[in-house]
Amino acid sequence: MAAGAAGLPLVSSLPAQTRELASEATVLTARGGFALDENRVRFFSKAVKSPFKVMVIADTHLFRDDDRGEHHRQYSARMARAYNQTRHFKTGEPTNPEKGLVEALHVAKAAKVELVALVGDMVSFPSEAAVEWLSERMAEAALPYLYVAGNHDWHYEGMEGSLEELRQTWIEQRLRPLYQGQNPLMEAREINGVRFVALDDSHYEILPEQLEFFRAQVRTGQPLVLLVHIPLYAPGRSVGYGCGHPQWSAATDRNFELERRPRWPQAGHTEVTMAFHREVFSTPNLLGVWAGHIHRSSLDVLNGIPQIVTDANATGAHLLAEFLPAVG
Ligand SMILES: [Fe+2]
Repeated sequence: MAAGAAGLPLVSSLPAQTRELASEATVLTARGGFALDENRVRFFSKAVKSPFKVMVIADTHLFRDDDRGEHHRQYSARMARAYNQTRHFKTGEPTNPEKGLVEALHVAKAAKVELVALVGDMVSFPSEAAVEWLSERMAEAALPYLYVAGNHDWHYEGMEGSLEELRQTWIEQRLRPLYQGQNPLMEAREINGVRFVALDDSHYEILPEQLEFFRAQVRTGQPLVLLVHIPLYAPGRSVGYGCGHPQWSAATDRNFELERRPRWPQAGHTEVTMAFHREVFSTPNLLGVWAGHIHRSSLDVLNGIPQIVTDANATGAHLLAEFLPAVG
């Protein structure tokens, strides 16, 4: 299957806040077009001077654990069984999450990627053993990488505390090494003039400081790619594409009992999250959005901006992205 998109928003039609963030010149040079072929995507941009590749990996759902996890068993039991045996995304043969990650890193190495983007739910719960195993594989691969958390990476089901508190706790206690000294909630990495902006939306909301960080990235005028674990709302999508979904609220939360977590708020998303969603899809220098969480490949195009969800790496799936100079 292949798809392409064109159609740049006119700067004059953008909200005032966004309008001041980018010039006409940026609009005309940053976004060209893109092509999607199975799990390979190509972005064309006049701002890209020399071609390069990025590997996107999400939803590996590693579940390795050992004696150190014994006292957390009551919180990890369900997810420890969730993805033990999977089917390979291409062959349908039995496989498993560890094989999935090794395979994706092998492809990344062979493709000589400039960056591996780990886009959340790399582990099914934050066991020492799984995080160590992942850190070791990343060190062995010796490829630059960035990591942003998913909703399972820091979640011990049934543990007391708000999602924001639990995220902070387990980032500090377990996931820290994966961030390699970067800010866990927001990071930007520049490669050949393209800025890869990773924001943690793993509890479905965007914090005010993350919105400010995103705006600062937009103001650079450079081409951007946004990486989030939970996809942004797109028309016709379920609340799973939950960041900015107008129906996301306590009334539509079907999994809070199963996942043993606080129910989504009655009032739905915060104003900040809704503003973030509006601004993302009005950003002239945004080439695209990459996400995971859904465990299925999908493409939505909003206002000419593609959002690509990659299939679960627990099945070996991954997304290989190429950035190429625009033709003509
Ligand atoms: Fe997820």
